[in-house]
Amino acid sequence: MTNSIERHAPVLFQEAIELLKVRAGGTYVDCTLGLAGHATGIAKLLGAKGHLIGFDRDPQAMALAKEKLDKVCEELGSQAPQVTLIGEAFSSIDKHLQPVSVDGLLADFGVSSLQLDEADRGFSFRTDGPLDMRMDTRSGPTAAQVVNEASERELADLIYEYGEERRSRRIARAIVRGRPVTTTGQLARIVASAAPAMKNDHISPATKTFQAIRIHLNSELDEIRALLEAAPRLLKPSARLVVICFHSLEDRIAKDSLRDGARQGIWEILTKKPVTAGEEEIERNPRSRSAKLRAAERTGPVKS
Ligand SMILES: C[S@@+](CC[C@H](N)C(=O)[O-])C[C@H]1O[C@@H](n2cnc3c(N)ncnc32)[C@H](O)[C@@H]1O
Repeated sequence: MTNSIERHAPVLFQEAIELLKVRAGGTYVDCTLGLAGHATGIAKLLGAKGHLIGFDRDPQAMALAKEKLDKVCEELGSQAPQVTLIGEAFSSIDKHLQPVSVDGLLADFGVSSLQLDEADRGFSFRTDGPLDMRMDTRSGPTAAQVVNEASERELADLIYEYGEERRSRRIARAIVRGRPVTTTGQLARIVASAAPAMKNDHISPATKTFQAIRIHLNSELDEIRALLEAAPRLLKPSARLVVICFHSLEDRIAKDSLRDGARQGIWEILTKKPVTAGEEEIERNPRSRSAKLRAAERTGPVKS
């Protein structure tokens, strides 16, 4: 676990912090604390009058983020901001924050390196572990339940929709035949045999199916929609919204939501094109290759 923290590199860190335009004394929300990489950067700029509010629905991530932020605040001493940590899904943000109370909101969607690196969490097809894939390990069905209990049709549909996998029917059929499926390794092998890698594929054949099950299980796209719908109510005039997406399904929601908000005069888009990682960052942190950052500034009359 320590390994993940040590190796953890927040994606598009400088760009995110700059676009958030963190000012001392403000209230900033990190909706996806993870290992608190971005949150640490924000905390250091806030000063004693500032307030950092962090969400993560993964209890393991939350514990590590707390540990890290406690340490940062200790180092900052009298300049440490107030920190409030909320171990819930960010779709509950309206319940916790007052309307028009936030100066900046950051969301770095998807899974953390901690979740991917720990075989026991069952997110990765690279390591063999139990088929879990829940971000919130306190509740909800596991990936094993979905994979073993959904109908072939349901599996095919979700792999197609959330994995954008054209060979979804073939994969679903193989999964149903291979039941019971209990480990990530077993699932990866079933997918690879049903839909082997093609000549020019840059990714493993299991990538899309794993992504699909994870998105479905954690209602990831509904969570993003709920957050982007709540954001206009929470942001003060001139407040900033910064979102980092890792695949086209997330990015499409962010792009459409920002564009619709801009049309309605809710915010001004600050990133005509999404910001992406440079060669040096991709070299250092391959996960940043697919990251797309979009930002907006709250304008217009604020209705609560
Ligand atoms: C990519 S990581 C964030 C990394 C973080 N920015 C950092 O610098 O360490 C995404 C985190 O968001 C959390 N997460 C994803 N969806 C969430 C949701 N709907 N509500 C709360 N937390 C969520 C995950 O559990 C994970 O820890």
